Amino acid sequence: MSKRIDVNNLNVYYSNFLAVEDVSLAIEPKSVTAFIGPSGCGKSTFLRTLNRMHEVIPGARVEGEVLVDGVNLYGDNVDPVTVRRHVGMVFQRPNPFPTMSIAENVLAGVKLNSKRMSRSDADDLVESSLRGANLWEEVKDRLDKPGSSLSGGQQQRLCIARAIAIKPDVLLMDEPCSALDPISTLAIEDLMQELKDEYTIVIVTHNMQQAARVSDRTAFFNIAGTGKPGKLIEMNDTPTMFSTPSEKATEDYISGRFG
Ligand SMILES: Nc1ncnc2c1ncn2[C@@H]1O[C@H](COP(=O)(O)OP(=O)(O)O)[C@@H](O)[C@H]1O
Ligand SMILES: [Mg+2]
Repeated sequence: MSKRIDVNNLNVYYSNFLAVEDVSLAIEPKSVTAFIGPSGCGKSTFLRTLNRMHEVIPGARVEGEVLVDGVNLYGDNVDPVTVRRHVGMVFQRPNPFPTMSIAENVLAGVKLNSKRMSRSDADDLVESSLRGANLWEEVKDRLDKPGSSLSGGQQQRLCIARAIAIKPDVLLMDEPCSALDPISTLAIEDLMQELKDEYTIVIVTHNMQQAARVSDRTAFFNIAGTGKPGKLIEMNDTPTMFSTPSEKATEDYISGRFG
């Protein structure tokens, strides 16, 4: 479970466009790391390099290394499908499969990974994953209802249940609360605090209060202008980043002077 990530000199391209330049950083296990920065600075792009989702876009590629517990995800003979089993992802908009039931949604990733499983093992996995996502009590009496019958906040927790059902080491979340109301947002934030006991969690958020509330460490990315690459400006433990950042650009951003 929970693994550490070391990124070394990563450049991220869309064809010839350098979207993110020369990022080196470390992400600690059993903690929440937040990526913040203005729109377009490459937070989502960089996040997707951590489970090789970036390269599904034609022409998209990286240079550099992403080590998960010392193993380079971009090494020869590494299967991107296996990488994505170990490094799960939750997206901005809850995206349960609309025609599948709640239970089927939880098992969707497991089935895709073609594990053969008995009925009772499947039931146990549905329950433990939904409990892990703090959703079990709300849905246990309607597991056969469509995933789309849930509220937005419940759908996002269903997506988290689906992600943890495959027992990843790392969970990447790209603005997981941006489509949610404040109550659901708090539910997801609470959930992150519980999940970090077991997983390495990386969250992109445009909400500085959220980064301050949920994360242990914060990385600030910035962009010098349109067409320029995004860069990591600084990274530190969250209280330090929000009280005494080293860089003027970080201070300007967190105090709301731009972005
Ligand atoms: N699929 C894509 N093809 C080409 N360029 C892209 C693609 N997705 C994002 N970009 C570009 O990469 C840069 C970083 O975008 P993104 O990672 O979405 O930033 P953020 O998540 O910080 O808002 C932007 O210039 C954006 O236009
Ligand atoms: Mg983004």
